[in-house]
Amino acid sequence: MDSIQEILHTMLTSHRLLHAYIALLILDNGWLLDNGLAKLPPMGWMSWGWYMCADNCTHNPNKCLDEKLILSVADAFYTEGYQEAGYEYIIIDDCWSERTRDEFGSLVPDRKRFPRGMKYIADYIHKRGLKFGMYTNIAYDTCMRYPGSRGYFEKDAKLFASWDVDYLKVDGCFVAESYLDHAYIDLGKALNETGRPMVYSCSWPYYKLFIHKHAANYSAVLPYCNLWRNYHDIMPAFGNIYYTLKFYEKNYENLYKFHGPGHWNDPDMLMLGTHSLTPGMSRIQVAVYAMLSAPWIISCDMNMVTPFDKSLLLNMNLIAVAQDPLGIMAKPYQVSRLTLWVKPHMPMKGDKYHSFSFTFVNFEDKFQYVTLPLSKYGISTNESYHVLDVFAGKFVLNVTRKDSIEVDVPPVDAVMYTLYPL
Ligand code: GLA
Repeated sequence: MDSIQEILHTMLTSHRLLHAYIALLILDNGWLLDNGLAKLPPMGWMSWGWYMCADNCTHNPNKCLDEKLILSVADAFYTEGYQEAGYEYIIIDDCWSERTRDEFGSLVPDRKRFPRGMKYIADYIHKRGLKFGMYTNIAYDTCMRYPGSRGYFEKDAKLFASWDVDYLKVDGCFVAESYLDHAYIDLGKALNETGRPMVYSCSWPYYKLFIHKHAANYSAVLPYCNLWRNYHDIMPAFGNIYYTLKFYEKNYENLYKFHGPGHWNDPDMLMLGTHSLTPGMSRIQVAVYAMLSAPWIISCDMNMVTPFDKSLLLNMNLIAVAQDPLGIMAKPYQVSRLTLWVKPHMPMKGDKYHSFSFTFVNFEDKFQYVTLPLSKYGISTNESYHVLDVFAGKFVLNVTRKDSIEVDVPPVDAVMYTLYPL
């Protein structure tokens, strides 16, 4: 079994190779994404997971994608502790525009739902020290058949920049594979040329793999996108979250090398706050996302967030792991009937001994008990560690490599321990 030092060594070697590859790409294409953003996995809120294309506000005023909603999320972030915890981007997904461009070929925000336009929203969000995200597609239409950006990359990039957008999610529906393979590069270049740093979120690998049925070439995507989707849409249902987590587990070897500061695999939104998960399911999603160093983008009605959801979303011990500056994707192991994720992270003792976290996930309907000999799962030193039970918020014991940790994980639940070197 790999020791933590070996995992780190492999990570560093593959990162060195990646940097050499990126240098070659710059020589070849003359540019690469150079916005200095997303050094930590982005945190925030996005409309799609809960609101989807909520454009019929007369019919359903309580589920309406409009200015009032977006400003209310900014207020909730500002007043309820989310901003202090690191939640930053507020992202409007599909269905925000009029059905046609104006006579000058510009995209126009829906006049009824966004009467003061997007710059007004950006200013409101920025005044609260938060950041603003928007959505488009590389095709003529968006996935919900609103106008897309094909044929208008420079124009739309300039428009988003003029609205002070900080983050752009770009979808890849309805295009041929040959177009897909250069469109993300072209649009990214147009964004770069505006001079406004915008986090660039791509869906290139997802469309490559699941729509065009070809392996995603992550080393081609990494130099151009800050984050990218690689699996189907998450929905407010645990089955869906389960398949997403299994995809990451099965594809770990293929994904972890491309994951790190400035460039992240994105398993899609957190579904807490939607009343669709049990407490155990919620713990599974947040814990594994923290272990993966995945973006934490929630999608919910902020008024529906229960005190329990909030206690997870604002758990600073958990967020410290999720936002660890090393940005390492945890490695999965099968231990008995549990999935164990192991992640090295900061703080370090001296220049050698990392902290690390263990997360045990039980997808079964019975308790699962295991004894975990630490020497087998990463601890190769004689150091002692202080063990924090992340969900209980308590230090529970001190261990060395000679010890084992015993866990009894409840049905459909997760237990997470963080080990800090003493
Ligand atoms: C795709 C994306 C979703 C969302 C919708 C909008 O399905 O994967 O995240 O952006 O399009 O139409």
